[in-house]
Amino acid sequence: MKTLLITGGAGFIGSHVVRLFVTNYPDYSIVNLDALTYAGNLENLGDIAGAPNYTFVKGDITDQDFVTNLFQNYNFDGVIHLAAESHVDRSITDPFAFIRTNVFGTANLLNAARLAWKDKMDGKRFYHVSTDEVYGSLGETGFFTEETPYDPRSPYSASKASSDHFVRAYHHTYGLPVVLSNCSNNYGANHFPEKLIPLAIHNIKNNKPIPVYGKGENVRDWLWVNDHARAIDVIFHMGLNGETYNIGGHNEWTNIALIKKLCEIMDRKLGREPGSSAGLITYVKDRAGHDLRYAIDSSKLQRELGWVPSLQFEEGLEKTVDWYLSNQQWLDNVTSGNYQEYYQKQYVQREKN
Ligand code: NAD
Ligand code: DAU
Repeated sequence: MKTLLITGGAGFIGSHVVRLFVTNYPDYSIVNLDALTYAGNLENLGDIAGAPNYTFVKGDITDQDFVTNLFQNYNFDGVIHLAAESHVDRSITDPFAFIRTNVFGTANLLNAARLAWKDKMDGKRFYHVSTDEVYGSLGETGFFTEETPYDPRSPYSASKASSDHFVRAYHHTYGLPVVLSNCSNNYGANHFPEKLIPLAIHNIKNNKPIPVYGKGENVRDWLWVNDHARAIDVIFHMGLNGETYNIGGHNEWTNIALIKKLCEIMDRKLGREPGSSAGLITYVKDRAGHDLRYAIDSSKLQRELGWVPSLQFEEGLEKTVDWYLSNQQWLDNVTSGNYQEYYQKQYVQREKN
């Protein structure tokens, strides 16, 4: 029996990772630590909440006493660390929240693991989940590899880059057994509608403007969230200590091409006149410091650990739209309250520009 700590398990990616581990590893005891910020939602895990090998703990990764006690109480064999502030636009308006959680929170977990495991590091594992945004922005060609120098350009990516450096420093200095991955943009069920794809689905459904930043020419490399969770499983079990693995779908889309594809799918599913949802596309003021292009080379992960993405993007988008259309209550719950205030500040002003 192994006991694993998964942080941020009530969020978008974390909820898929928790479900995969709870379901596929009945002999592991999974502890999900999450502060339940605006992005954390226990509804994401309703189906496995009663599983005998699952425990939820509400708490903040930046709380030193709390995290130290948690490690003492549970005697963890491994950590999969996903908890973070994750939205680039919010990092532009409130960078310190990102420094606090992503940098200090990660260092706090690393230190608790170091102290708890100091007499026996063998067989332990600290897995840090990171992003391709640490590599900066690409021009029209090329890919991010594990050797690409770090060049973070937003407060979000700077905070993630800093946390990656702390993880490697704890490995190098204290011998902490770590593994890292840097993944491209995820999409799928449970995605909070502040991010492009769920926000567009939500707005199309409600006949509201679809805000496209700048000219819509920025490129992202999209991966189905369940394929990211599968990669995390493979890397956690088979990755080598101290190594980094890039995860991505080789699936690049300009934002505007992606939005047009979503409009087509939504017109068909909602029985609307073909082309009608595209009329909602609204070009708005660009994101400050907007990275032009991300594209991941995941050949190391494919070659060394045998992972490959399982789903074609068009099929994944269809599934994602279906999920949002049949989970209206989930959307209503997460878009009530603070979301309205966020939307007003983030978009209503932009739409006027
Ligand atoms: P998310 O914002 O949906 O979820 C983050 C979770 O962390 C939430 O449940 C939140 O409550 C929790 N959390 C935040 N602050 C906390 C704190 N101080 N203490 C404890 N819990 C806290 O994020 P996501 O999109 O699921 O991303 C998860 C991880 O994957 C992040 O580390 C992110 O950087 C990384 N990542 C995300 C993507 C993507 O496309 N979403 C791609 C690559 C990497
Ligand atoms: O690359 C991995 C990263 O992907 C993760 O580390 C982040 O946590 C995750 O949020 C995501 O970051 P992006 O900034 O790429 O995702 P977002 O969905 O916010 O934006 C995707 C693209 O769409 C980006 O070029 C900005 C643009 N955009 C976004 C929103 C929210 C719009 O044009 N309009 C919008 O309303």
